[in-house]
Amino acid sequence: MKKKVALLTMAAVLGLSVTACGSGETTDTAGTTTTTAETTAETTAAETTAAETTAAADTEVANKDKPLVWFNRQPSNSSTGELDMTALNFNENTYYVGFDANQGAELQGTMVRDYIEKNIETIDRNGDGVIGYVLAIGDIGHNDSIARTRGVRKALGTGVDKDGNINSDPIGTNTDGSATAVQDGTLTINGTDYVVRELASQEMKNSAGATWDAATAGNAIGTWSSSFGDQIDVVVSNNDGMGMSMFNAWSKDNNVPTFGYDANNDAVAAIAEGYGGTISQHADVQAYLTLRVLRNALDGVDIDTGIGTPDEAGNTLSEDVYVYNEEERSYYALNVAVTAENYQDFTDSTKVYEPVSNQLDEATHPRKSVWLNIYNAADNFLSSTYQPLLQNYDDLLNLDVEYIGGDGQTESNITNRLGNPGQYDAFAINMVKTDNAASYTSLLSQ
Ligand code: BGC
Repeated sequence: MKKKVALLTMAAVLGLSVTACGSGETTDTAGTTTTTAETTAETTAAETTAAETTAAADTEVANKDKPLVWFNRQPSNSSTGELDMTALNFNENTYYVGFDANQGAELQGTMVRDYIEKNIETIDRNGDGVIGYVLAIGDIGHNDSIARTRGVRKALGTGVDKDGNINSDPIGTNTDGSATAVQDGTLTINGTDYVVRELASQEMKNSAGATWDAATAGNAIGTWSSSFGDQIDVVVSNNDGMGMSMFNAWSKDNNVPTFGYDANNDAVAAIAEGYGGTISQHADVQAYLTLRVLRNALDGVDIDTGIGTPDEAGNTLSEDVYVYNEEERSYYALNVAVTAENYQDFTDSTKVYEPVSNQLDEATHPRKSVWLNIYNAADNFLSSTYQPLLQNYDDLLNLDVEYIGGDGQTESNITNRLGNPGQYDAFAINMVKTDNAASYTSLLSQ
């Protein structure tokens, strides 16, 4: 019996690695794809248990009372950033999992400034006395994107105040320094003052409405470089997807340091070829937390189990990798800068975090089924880093997860595929727009 279980588990693991490679290869076409291969493999392995579980869930727990985790896009007002506490308190088992946006933003800004300071002798490519940078903005209504824009402007002295905070608006082009949403900054290095100018910034949204759009960023750097290329000394991006697109299209060949965010595999590898650096938002910790809070709620145990408090398998997270804000019902992973000095430690972004890599016993943590969506199947970070991690953890936590890939543009493309919530024991949701939590909770409340 034991042998059989082991074989089935191995089969599931093999199925998983094939799925992970496959989804990596087809990200650009996957607008409406449901990743079912893994689910199928696991379902076969645990057919009876899953069926029993589902039946039990149907009769005992109403959809509105099932565990729910929001992740990556925090329910919030996309204009003001104010958290949507109704969504975050949907039921007593509702949480958000993301990362500490302000801590990460500060790290990114500091990483760019440190680089400039260290390379001050060579950084000003045209010798005009102005250190010019361009900035790719992900989504002007997304708190994480806003924080990163502010972090960079703050560290480089280019931010201006708007309603008590640094203005995070895109400026278009500003080659003469006359834009009002930013100002020329001053960096004093070795006793000398240098001017820093944000030459251009733009929200990278494609014509269909998808944000954080890598292809749009690749086009933008083409336009910028052909009109004022020799003024660009540094390229900064709200994420690696856009950063790598600009690096490959232009900055690599022109030796212009480019900085991103996420520590995706391709970006970390590119550090060896001149990519300036990136930030790990500890996706390995976030993916674990996303599924772990559901597991704990389904098991009816203290929510801290396997998080701040070790579980019986030995899984536990230390305080240096996450914080929990009880009032916000939110877990935030902490960020780490990845540069030429330490990138060798970050070469596999899909590897499970060792302190939480222990398999849970299926006898005490029976299989449960989870509906989970990725808002945009073509998003570099979510498809190449986050989802493969989730797929590693779902096995360890005995969760049969159905992965739904959205088109990144319309909520209905995803909600249409939540037609039968009664089939699932728990839900993990990644919204297209952070204002839209009710599109999901209304389906669960019916
Ligand atoms: C990531 C971006 C990604 C976005 C999607 C952010 O946390 O850094 O790369 O595009 O999430 O919501």
